[in-house]
Amino acid sequence: MKDLIICFSGTGNSYYVAKEIAKAQSHDNIIMLNELNNQKFEIPERLGLIFPIHMSREPFTVEKEMREALSKVKDFTALKFLYIITTASINSPGWAHIRVEKMFKDYGVATTYVNNIKMPDNIINPTNKERSEQLFLEADVKIKNIIEDIKVEKIKFPKFKAFTRTYSNISFLFNRYYARNYSKNFIVTEECISCKLCYKSCPANNITFENGRPVFHNNCFACTNCINTCPTNAIKKKKDNGKRYKNPKGNFNHFYRS
Ligand SMILES: Cc1cc2nc3c(=O)[nH]c(=O)nc-3n(C[C@H](O)[C@H](O)[C@H](O)COP(=O)(O)O)c2cc1C
Ligand code: SF4
Ligand code: SF4
Repeated sequence: MKDLIICFSGTGNSYYVAKEIAKAQSHDNIIMLNELNNQKFEIPERLGLIFPIHMSREPFTVEKEMREALSKVKDFTALKFLYIITTASINSPGWAHIRVEKMFKDYGVATTYVNNIKMPDNIINPTNKERSEQLFLEADVKIKNIIEDIKVEKIKFPKFKAFTRTYSNISFLFNRYYARNYSKNFIVTEECISCKLCYKSCPANNITFENGRPVFHNNCFACTNCINTCPTNAIKKKKDNGKRYKNPKGNFNHFYRS
């Protein structure tokens, strides 16, 4: 296999990037991270890992699933080009590139190219429709450049920044403890129409249904997909500014379950 992309995405920003890159490479070999360890992971010539930045680093599920998959691989010699693309609400990948590069190094694999794309925010201050559309236009330009870079197998290593390392070390606590329980505080109101879109769009299998209503457990990835996808805004946070991020390219169309 020549090309493979492994993708984690909450609200579809990173998935959009994965699809655009795959389209330019004329394939649809995208494995969603939560499915990675349920299938045979065949090492391609060019491997892309695409995910959002969570608190200045990779979402904890990225390291967990990738390490499990990589530890099963006996031979990486087919792999010629490894690239890591992140999406974030600011123009910085935080400490994620450095951390993920180190993770691959632990298995003897060198990262060749990294890049970060600024996209709408899906958590702190969810970006509104107009601004999101603008950010996607800007992202499209960057995606085109990245596609060209990958085509010529450009070398671009992660940048070391002392401040982001300190911040990301603190945010370890968020990833380890807070994220898992993020959805436990959600309240589901009478506006719920039992459409199950929240359940279908959860990459963590963290939602079950009881009496026609979602119940949230403590295996959350804090990806925000359920709360942003809900068509009636029936899912509320304890302190809720009422804003929701709606991906302008349509709802995240990779449903994790039917
Ligand atoms: C839990 C969480 C933490 C985040 N932390 C950061 C951050 O530290 N820096 C940043 O620029 N964006 C941050 N974001 C915003 C996302 O990285 C951004 O919206 C991303 O494009 C979402 O991609 P997705 O739709 O593929 O999940 C965070 C989002 C979430 C859900
Ligand atoms: S419960 Fe919601 S926020 Fe948590 S992982 Fe599932 S979809 Fe994402
Ligand atoms: S997405 Fe919203 S309306 Fe649909 S089942 Fe979930 S909470 Fe209810």
